[in-house]
Amino acid sequence: ESPNHNTEVKLQKICHLLDQEIPYFNWTGFYFRNGHKEELILGPYVGAETDHTVIPFGKGICGQVAVSNETFVVPDVHAQENYLSCSIATKAEIVVPIIKDGNNIGQIDIDSHELDPFTAEDREMLEWLCDEIAKIM
Ligand code: SME
Repeated sequence: ESPNHNTEVKLQKICHLLDQEIPYFNWTGFYFRNGHKEELILGPYVGAETDHTVIPFGKGICGQVAVSNETFVVPDVHAQENYLSCSIATKAEIVVPIIKDGNNIGQIDIDSHELDPFTAEDREMLEWLCDEIAKIM
């Protein structure tokens, strides 16, 4: 389900904050499930424009998280076969699902221009953040 306008504004601010505070977060954005369809729609983001505004379930890292319901940390995107490239500068990616009332409603997606940059603390922080976001969705 897509966020309402107020929530979108908050999510946009979260993207800006993460982008400003963490130097190796080089594309920070949200994808949400498109109603009951098995596809994700791009939500608020900060970073380069992407061609991937709609992602079918199962495709790429994001599409895999839409079905696995688990955080996916990719230290090296070039080692992934099922990966959708947004920018040639991207070397690593982390995607964390947003689970509301047991349903996977969307995700935060972060790309990095560095190889293997994401720490256990990043993952914990993002998982906490997605739990908080679920409460306002
Ligand atoms: N790389 C993602 C697609 C989204 S862009 O990174 C913004 C993927 O493989 O699902």
